[in-house]
Amino acid sequence: MLTELNIRKFLAPEIIFGDGAIELLGRYVRNYGAGRVFIVTDQGLVQAGLLERAQTILAAAGVDLVVYDKVSPNPRDYEVMEAAELYHQSHCDIIIALGGGSPMDCAKGVSIVSANNNHILTFKGVDNVEIPGPPLICLPTTSGTSADVSQFAIINNTEERVKVAIISKTMVPDLALLDPGLTLTMNRDLTLCTGMDALVHAIEAYVSSASSQLTDLHALEAIRLIQRSLPKVLDNLNDVELREQMMLASLEAGLAFSNASLGAVHAMAHSLGGLLDLPHGECNTLLLDAVIKRNYEAVPERYDRIGEIFGVQMQGIAPERRAQAVAEAVLSFKRQLGFESGLDKRGVRLDDITLLAQKALADPCMVTNPRRFELADIEAIFKEAL
Ligand SMILES: [Fe+2]
Repeated sequence: MLTELNIRKFLAPEIIFGDGAIELLGRYVRNYGAGRVFIVTDQGLVQAGLLERAQTILAAAGVDLVVYDKVSPNPRDYEVMEAAELYHQSHCDIIIALGGGSPMDCAKGVSIVSANNNHILTFKGVDNVEIPGPPLICLPTTSGTSADVSQFAIINNTEERVKVAIISKTMVPDLALLDPGLTLTMNRDLTLCTGMDALVHAIEAYVSSASSQLTDLHALEAIRLIQRSLPKVLDNLNDVELREQMMLASLEAGLAFSNASLGAVHAMAHSLGGLLDLPHGECNTLLLDAVIKRNYEAVPERYDRIGEIFGVQMQGIAPERRAQAVAEAVLSFKRQLGFESGLDKRGVRLDDITLLAQKALADPCMVTNPRRFELADIEAIFKEAL
């Protein structure tokens, strides 16, 4: 009889890391033998001059290219389909994502839509992509989403106003070209939201029911790096060394969560982001401490370790007070960064909560949450975060 095996796998793209790594773009594209390159990006990157910089590097390498630059924050299903159509019509054979999570998720969508000739929403859930797409190079300009190393893409189902998670190893990019210098374009808000997203990735991967020693190593290091570097970088946005620390943290968190998956914070943040179109990292940050309080009892020793990283002497605290202590440490970190809590301030009403909770319960990230939640538990967390 086949019993459940305690086996873990670990997937990662080829990773090039360091200030100036963008200069290698032309060489890598040529290594893949590309005929014509399809670049997926957004208007913010066009205005920041980063698209032009990538175009110059590719032109110098003699590479022909086509650009799709209409990705919006929280990429929409119809944008993926529009970009995939352009990819198909332009006879491109390699995809470059330039930007934050939105262009990268959109590019992953273009890749699987073009290979399988199906609508993007048909791939939702885990392992529903049959044919891998063309080579995908990610050039992230934020430090947080880790779409550049993960097997996740989050796409906005605009008709049902919910974010759909697509999880498949076919979407692990071929190359993550990580250049901390590109993240200097981020303002304070974006730095805060993406940095907190990376923290939530690391925490959720560490407490995930699919965690392993391989993922723990990366998750814990990411939490340490973010606790140390995020407050500093927010006061020194032009410091490349601090940007490098955050990019490294995001990479470590990404390697952890891509392989250990996530949990209730992300499941609930996807539901919230679908309803309100808020930045993803902001949704996570709003919910993090309320989820910790309810998750604590499932893996207390793991949350204690997180508390210690945030400076709490857990041994000196009575066991029944520890959940609160870890949640408070995270809450005080949020306050230190100047983050204002409260779903109500973002327009969530009490009446919205049941629908939000129903959508969160159906999200694939909920599967690896360390504690099994009922609808009422999720409603209670949303109410607490209100
Ligand atoms: Fe995330």
